[in-house]
Amino acid sequence: MFRLLPNTVRISHRYLAERLRPGDVAVDATVGNGNDTLVLARLVSPGGRVYGFDIQEAALAKASDMISRHGLLDVVTLIHRGHETMCEYFTEKVDAIVFNLGYLPGGDHNITTNPATTVRALENGLGLLNPGGVICIVVYTGHQGGKEEQRQLEAYLGGLDKKEFCVGKLDFLNRGSAPFLIIIEKKATLEGWQ
Ligand SMILES: C[S@@+](CC[C@H](N)C(=O)[O-])C[C@H]1O[C@@H](n2cnc3c(N)ncnc32)[C@H](O)[C@@H]1O
Repeated sequence: MFRLLPNTVRISHRYLAERLRPGDVAVDATVGNGNDTLVLARLVSPGGRVYGFDIQEAALAKASDMISRHGLLDVVTLIHRGHETMCEYFTEKVDAIVFNLGYLPGGDHNITTNPATTVRALENGLGLLNPGGVICIVVYTGHQGGKEEQRQLEAYLGGLDKKEFCVGKLDFLNRGSAPFLIIIEKKATLEGWQ
């Protein structure tokens, strides 16, 4: 067990815990089994909201049960649509967005995220971010289409204006094809700086 460098998902949760406060608004762009949604719900409670998207209804139902058992369903709005439509579902600005790309562990490995919709969701998500907000993307490349998704994602993010966004990548040099983490931070205004 590595304390500072555990798996990518846990590292992303630390960044989110650093940024999110009760009352904040967050988005889980790929709800799946709901583990990230639950983390977000805990961090923004009380008083906050989490919007969660997934294209698999069965996954959302399972996630809903799990979050309900933790007593946090009232904080969460689950939406059975692709993340590329997120602008249609809420009007607030958001403080954090999480993507966990690839297929659902334990689910159908043929249902995966897709480069075009992932990039479109990111374009929309960047427009929704509050100053000082973050986007964490856990990227798997092992599935079919995974490498192409990485290529399109990095090409798009590499072109973002460095005066407005900082884009970082945390990859492991000795863990084979383990997922890596991309973190995007939107510049804070002086008023937003804490
Ligand atoms: C790696 S899993 C997510 C794991 C999840 N975060 C968890 O904690 O269990 C990826 C998920 O993305 C979903 N997905 C694929 N394309 C999507 C899209 N366009 N919009 C939203 N979700 C999508 C899949 O259905 C799958 O459940």
